[in-house]
Amino acid sequence: SAAEKSGYDYFMLKEIAEQPKAVADTLLGRIGADGALTLDEVRLPAAELREIDKVVMVACGTAYHAGLIAKYAIEHWTRTPCETELASEFRYRDPILDSRTLVIAVSQSGETMDTLMALRHAREQGAKVLAICNTNGSTIPRESDAVLYTHAGPEVAVASTKAFLTQLVACYLVALYLGQVRGTKWGDEVIAAIRELSAISTQVEEVLTTMEPVRELARSLADKETVLFLGRHVGYPVALEGALKLKELAYMHAEGFAAGELKHGPIALIEEDVPVVVVVPSPRGRSVLHDKIVSNIQEIRARGARTIVIAERGDTAVLPYADHLIEVPRTPVLLQPLVATVPLQVFACELATARGNEVDQPRNLAKSVTVE
Ligand code: G6P
Repeated sequence: SAAEKSGYDYFMLKEIAEQPKAVADTLLGRIGADGALTLDEVRLPAAELREIDKVVMVACGTAYHAGLIAKYAIEHWTRTPCETELASEFRYRDPILDSRTLVIAVSQSGETMDTLMALRHAREQGAKVLAICNTNGSTIPRESDAVLYTHAGPEVAVASTKAFLTQLVACYLVALYLGQVRGTKWGDEVIAAIRELSAISTQVEEVLTTMEPVRELARSLADKETVLFLGRHVGYPVALEGALKLKELAYMHAEGFAAGELKHGPIALIEEDVPVVVVVPSPRGRSVLHDKIVSNIQEIRARGARTIVIAERGDTAVLPYADHLIEVPRTPVLLQPLVATVPLQVFACELATARGNEVDQPRNLAKSVTVE
């Protein structure tokens, strides 16, 4: 009903708007006054976590994209090898697992069969399983050794938005917590990152106030057939998520690529007026990647692409090559997905509306897939 949607036309719009609160709620009570993380509820003893020699993320759909981003954070902050795998592929390739492996199953619903089967397989092999889940008491956390709940609140729209942002927060929390208990050489950076994460909901809020041009742009692209997405580093999974949202909602052909792969194939797809969304990493920090992606934008634009550039506010280097510029607030490099994903959600939602599609219930999709 209209009341349930609190005045929004769709649950998805309501859920996009709820993201700053969902992010803040997921952080609530998990950062102590001394700036250290307290994930006691997770009940994985620090001594056990120090023994872990490999982390494996398993998930499906949007949650898998959170897992891909987690890999960058976990390896950087903890120096522990981490792989991310589609839950549906995991158990069928006989993965190497033992009691020193931490498997992290990410699932909004906690009922996705592929993810459940992956975690059962992991436990049978003696691995420890931590669930990151949004649904209290659902099957996946019940069958895991430990759980870190996301506090997005109920997500009704089939296409995941606020649950995704909170999955990212939970992944960052786990990565930073592992960094904290294992005491890596990045100690100071871990402390700084915890502080910056604690303030991130303000930046998510800020992005939401600047979305009108994104909606306008989406409407102008309603008759396109294809949209491509490029990103690098943590921007690569953001590009994949942007493409997934567009497929799910607008029923358009959309594909995400790692920008470094452009020259190895995808550049052949660039022709006159093809919209290409590029997620640009911060010019600070890993500036080499920034410069490389700016030359990618130049290359595709020279071949006629219509460039839609998502860049940090104040990034003047992209200006000459951006047909459309979507600015996002400054964040630490690893946290950028929390702000860069939001315009892509709005973009897909508005395109779906412009194409006359049912936003909350896209054709052929289910909110939770309980069969393999
Ligand atoms: C379905 C939904 C997706 C979701 C995926 C995983 O395919 O349509 O939006 O990302 O399942 O769901 P989960 O509940 O495990 O996060």
